[in-house]
This record gives sequence, C-alpha cells and structure tokens, in this order.
Amino acid sequence: MKKVYLETFGCQMNVSDSERVATSLAAEGLELVEDELSADLVLINTCSVREKAEQKLYTRVGEVKLREGTKPVIGVMGCVAQLEGETLFKKINGIDFVLGTRAVGRVNEAIRKVLSDGPGYADLGEREADYDWSVADAQRHSRSVAFVPIIEGCNKFCTYCIVPFSRGRETSLPASEIIRQVLELKRNGVKEVHLIGQNVNSYRPSTESGLEGFKGSSPFSRLLRAVAATGIERIKFNTSFPRDFNADIVEAIEENENLCNWVHLPVQSGSNKVLKDMRRLHTVESYKKKIDRIKASPRNIALTTDIIVGFPGETIEDFEQTMGLFEYSEYATAYIFKYSPRPDTPAYAMRDDVSPEEKTRRFLELERVQKHLQAKHLEGYIGRTVSVLAEKRSAKSPSDLSGHSTCHRVVNFPGSDGMLGSIVDVRITQAKANSLYGEVV
Ligand code: 5AD
Ligand code: SF4
Repeated sequence: MKKVYLETFGCQMNVSDSERVATSLAAEGLELVEDELSADLVLINTCSVREKAEQKLYTRVGEVKLREGTKPVIGVMGCVAQLEGETLFKKINGIDFVLGTRAVGRVNEAIRKVLSDGPGYADLGEREADYDWSVADAQRHSRSVAFVPIIEGCNKFCTYCIVPFSRGRETSLPASEIIRQVLELKRNGVKEVHLIGQNVNSYRPSTESGLEGFKGSSPFSRLLRAVAATGIERIKFNTSFPRDFNADIVEAIEENENLCNWVHLPVQSGSNKVLKDMRRLHTVESYKKKIDRIKASPRNIALTTDIIVGFPGETIEDFEQTMGLFEYSEYATAYIFKYSPRPDTPAYAMRDDVSPEEKTRRFLELERVQKHLQAKHLEGYIGRTVSVLAEKRSAKSPSDLSGHSTCHRVVNFPGSDGMLGSIVDVRITQAKANSLYGEVV
C-alpha cells in the first residue's frame, strides 16, 4: 500500500479541499501518514495570498528533495498550482504533478498518470463547474465539526488580492445540495457545520431549489434559515464581506439559536482613503453601521476581523485611523497582516512605499492594542457559563478537553473521553492569552 503525506497551507478552503483529497486518497487504497519520511508521495496544498505563504512551497520541495533514500513523488495542489500551471515544472525542479484548485476532485487520476507515465502531469480544471463540492467524510479535521463549502471563488477584486485570480469567479452550490449534505452530516453525528467560502454573503445559486419558503433579503440569509431548519446543533459561517453583509443576517441569527453568535467581518483598514485604494467599495462609516447592528444584538455576537497594515500609500494618519477603528469595534480577535505585493494584482503596480521596518512597527503596535482589547474581552467571560463542543483532547494538557464556544472561542476544561463529541456547559474560571479555561457544570 502506497503511503501519502499531505501538507496544507492557507485558508479554510484549502483545509476543506485537503480533507476531500484525503478522503479520495483513502478510497483509492492509499494510506495517509503523519511521518513524511516514510511517504511514497508528498502532496503540498499551497497558498499564494502572501509572498511568505508562496515561498513555503519552494522551501518544502527543497527539503523533500534533500531527503535520503528513495525520492517520493511530489504533487503540488492549491492556489500556486492553479496560478502557475505547467510553468511550475520549469520553476521548481523535481515536482511530478500540478493540480489546480478546480481539479482536486481528480487527485487519484493524477497519481495514477504519474505512477504509470512519469512526471510532468498538470490538471487545472476547465471550468468553475469542475470544483469538487462533496463533503469530506472519512478524513475530516474533526469528527464533530465539518466544513461545507457553499461558494467557491471571488468576484470582488480587492486590489491587493490574488484570490480572484487563483480561485476564479464565484460559483454557488444549490441550497438543496447544501441541505442534503448538512442532514447527512447530522445523521453521522456531526454537531457543528461551517458554511465556508471566500465571501459567503454573495452566495447566489443558479436555482431556488432548497430555498423555497424561506424568507430573507438575500439568498444567503435565506440559506441560513434553511440550514437552521435542518436542526443541526450549530451553524457557523465565514468569511463575510462588509458590502454584502446585511442586517437580515443578524436577524436570522436572532431567530435561530443554532446559528452561532460569531461574525468574521474583515475590514482591512480604518482609513477611507486606503479602503478606496484597496477597492473595497465600502467606507469606515458604512462598516460601523453594520457592526453597530451586530453589537446591538441580544445574542452577544463576537466580532472578528482581518487587517492589512502598510498598504501602498498608507500614512501614519491612515494607520492611526485603523487604531481608532480597533478601539471602536472591540474585536474578539483580529488577524493582522503586513501588506505583501502579489504579482499581477492592481496594487502590484502601486509603489510599495511603506518600508519593511515601518510595516513591522505598525504590525506590532496594532497587535499590542489588539492584545489589550482581547484580554479585556476574555476577562469578561470569567464567571459566565458558555456552551462548548468537546472536540478533542488538549495537546498541551492531556487531562483536559478542548473545544469551541458558540462564539468560536477555544475553551479548555478537565473532562473524560465520554464527553468527546458532545456539547457541555462550562463555567469559565480563567482567561488565558488566546483561550478560556473552565469547569463543566
Ligand atoms: N497582503 C497581505 N495580506 C493580504 N490578505 C489578502 N491579500 C493580502 C496581501 N496581498 C489578507 C486579507 C484577507 C486575508 C485572508 O489575507 O486581510 O482578508
Ligand atoms: Fe480577496 Fe477581497 Fe475576494 Fe476577500 S473579498 S478573497 S480580500 S478579493
């Protein structure tokens, strides 16, 4: 039996793609291994969103090739594969096949081809319709949590972002299919589904099938109500986009206990000038209105965001406005990134005029503010009881279980194996840097 080592970089779409790839590999009789050195095949699922992420592919292939003994077959999948295609064979010596994001459903075909005909096989998929929407079953990251892709690709073309080029135009999966998958996951014991996509709010299926009878001002808010009606215990969704995020989404959360109290709404910058240059097509004021509605909800919705510091032309004043927005928004968590120019995006032609040192300085300053806000936020949980899905044993402390609250906070607590996969009430006793600690009540 051939052994495969599968490594994944990047966003939740890549994690989800890898789960489907792993499920296909297992169905083909290949064995997935944790130990790279024993593998006959090494598959790397790549990310190209920032230069550092892309660089990892080059470093990893170099490391695998240096390995002693028989050389494994090397397959490159994901966003770098989709963007570069066959040119990767010239750029990196020693890779055997290239499989684009749209072609991950055909991983076994690629492996068979390479094993019989030798290296040099590329499959980038031909159309949006090529995407494999099946939900991973045998090889998910968790037995009780499942990712369900509902929309693939992005039409937004924010000027810094490579995703519209790597993942192509938006394609939505019909609601009837999503509901069928959620019901099947529920039957198989899954407690929490994440409806995922680069921009879930612009979900727009080609058919109404599955949405009939559900109210809502957008297909996405109707989908939320339709998925809530399946009765699955918990539903989370990400990522949202400010322009397409409407109050009706908050209303759907308020009407359905199983729609969780967490919204990930990236803002990227607190300066209208920078937002305009990023082509976000929303303003700080319009964004604040949306988060005011989220904050006003009795569901106590946790708000998280993404930020880019050091975008071309970002002045100290622009950056200070981002700091101001942080104080205003009180994010539960914020993912902060230093701007990284990506070839062929519109921002690539702009002068990358914030020095690397200044980008680092702004990054650290914003991180300091965020750590302070987050600490305050986490301390607010002490003494409260939250409902936690017990997902796994904690890696750090084996007597503890680890899971997420409905607002997507990591919560650790002492617990037995029998609790795994169930939802328990935990009274919070301690706030750590990025997680909460408590006891089952
Ligand atoms: N440079 C830095 N960060 C980026 N992101 C996307 N493109 C870039 C880039 N070129 C960030 C955005 C996005 C997150 C997934 O990655 O904040 O929301
Ligand atoms: Fe990139 Fe903007 Fe699309 Fe998000 S919405 S994937 S940042 S282009």
